[in-house]
Amino acid sequence: MALESFGPEFWSAEGPILPFCGFPYPTRGAVIRLRNGSLFIWSPVPLDQAMRAEIDALGTVRHIVSPNKLHHLWLAEWKRAYPAARLYAPPGLARKRRDLPFDAVLDEAPEPDWADDIDQVLVPGSSVLTEIVFLHKKSQTAIFCDLIQNFPRDWFKGWRGWLARLDGIVQPNHGAPREWRATFRHRERTRQAVQRILDFAPDKVFIPHGEPARQNGTDFVRTGFGWLLR
Ligand SMILES: [Fe+2]
Repeated sequence: MALESFGPEFWSAEGPILPFCGFPYPTRGAVIRLRNGSLFIWSPVPLDQAMRAEIDALGTVRHIVSPNKLHHLWLAEWKRAYPAARLYAPPGLARKRRDLPFDAVLDEAPEPDWADDIDQVLVPGSSVLTEIVFLHKKSQTAIFCDLIQNFPRDWFKGWRGWLARLDGIVQPNHGAPREWRATFRHRERTRQAVQRILDFAPDKVFIPHGEPARQNGTDFVRTGFGWLLR
């Protein structure tokens, strides 16, 4: 099975492990079925035949979404496979990937096409990374991308493990890498955005890098942003 259930109308898709700044990064995408039967594809991973068959059995791909400008590797492949789907750019990506045929740019408000099922929060305040966090109502899941990373203790080996622990992305200390935390200069705005996510009271938190939280999501978000909230 290419897809694994993560919650009601919510599936997880494991992708390959990629080198990122010399560290092996696992990847993971999400598939959400909206109440009108169309599919919302979040940070897609490579689309092979097995996955395509499972996707097509679930519904019609209408939305292909990237949550931040670092996650763009397989967008073109999905848009080619599903040309009628709309491709959405997070802040900064349309400029970085001028070759991609984006249909719209994401911002603070959810698109009317998915607003009944999914809310979204733009997390501002960093000079290098702006991320859109999606909130899936039916499964009560907050979907973070790079702002919360939660690697198992033994994922990174040797000096990488030491550095990653220092970076605050290894269990039990999940969060954004420390060098990114330092880029949040407008912290009151960031705090307001994170508070909106906490107000949603997520039960689960879906993340691509490390272990998602399948329960107690609100606590998981609060501790992941301890560096910002305290
Ligand atoms: Fe990432």
